[in-house]
Amino acid sequence: MHLPDRVTIVEVGPRDGLQNEPSIVPVATRVELIHRLQDAGLPVIEAGSFVSPKWVPQMADTAQVLAQLVRRPGVRYPVLVPNLRGFEAATAAGARDIAVFTASSETFARKNINCSIAESLQRFAPVMSAAQSADIPVRGYVSCALACPYEGDISPGVVADVAERLFRMGCTEISLGDTIGKGTPVRVQNMIDAVSAQVPVSRLAVHFHDTYGQALANVLAALEKGVAVIDSSVAGLGGCPYAPGASGNLATEDLVYMLDGMHIQTGVALEKLVATGQFISAAIQKNPASRASVALSSGKSGAAGGT
Ligand code: HMG
Ligand code: MG
Repeated sequence: MHLPDRVTIVEVGPRDGLQNEPSIVPVATRVELIHRLQDAGLPVIEAGSFVSPKWVPQMADTAQVLAQLVRRPGVRYPVLVPNLRGFEAATAAGARDIAVFTASSETFARKNINCSIAESLQRFAPVMSAAQSADIPVRGYVSCALACPYEGDISPGVVADVAERLFRMGCTEISLGDTIGKGTPVRVQNMIDAVSAQVPVSRLAVHFHDTYGQALANVLAALEKGVAVIDSSVAGLGGCPYAPGASGNLATEDLVYMLDGMHIQTGVALEKLVATGQFISAAIQKNPASRASVALSSGKSGAAGGT
């Protein structure tokens, strides 16, 4: 089995992790979370989104978060934008990396961004040209890459088609989202086979929610196919307000524990990450949804044993 030597973790906790919380997490806490994550070694930290505050009030103050960040050289802080208005607000606030987001399910696209898939791509066209002029890289998300809360299983061909269109528009990376965490490893590999026939695998990322406890197994399946960019969320926070039934993302602590044990480099210090997960979990009055965090904090076991 050939696996990558190194994986880039895209930490989505400050965005995906907090966009679905019942309460709005204060800007100072969000900024401290990002500072702690960069201190733990995360190279890419999604800082928030510039979407309608009526749709996702939790992310309304993302401009203030960016304004208060003490940026670390080499770390990237992408933000989600759904349209040109979001792009302009994001860049005015100092964003240097953005992500656009659509879906491989028409019903989910309508529920999440209030338009069809084709209309979402039309909205992205002016965003892409503005981003190219400003030399800003754009990640493209495809939600419901395995299953949709409204339409059920999604065919790999549809995912490949949407991913290809985003890639041809100029997205530098395509993140394939299992929005409701229903996927299993063989389906993940079939989907990646279909997408990588259209988009080089070096440009693909995977984004697993862990609703059914399949996320780590699905990461391994994706690694076997050559994917080396993995999204995850500290303390397993996360969810989309427009994806009923979705639980949090794969916990970054569990991902780092597994990759450490496989001698795959991430640059992330697990102990600092566990402390960061405890910090944000205490702030929102939850327990960390990370098995590795629970085990390491109770002193049951140490670092990952690798063979
Ligand atoms: P709409 O209602 O169709 O659009 O929403 P609109 O153009 O009619 O605008 C409605 C209102 O929003 C107007 O304000 C606009 O000015 C304002 P009003 O006149 O009513 O006061 N507006 C904006 N405000 C701030 N920033 C903007 C912006 N655009 C319009 N950029 C829209 C369409 C796309 C805006 C809306 O549906 C929306 O904001 N959706 C975002 C939903 C969202 O953020 N979902 C979570 C992220 S996706 C996700 O979590 C999945 C992912 O993790 C991968 C996975 O797990 O699969 C990425
Ligand atoms: Mg997500």
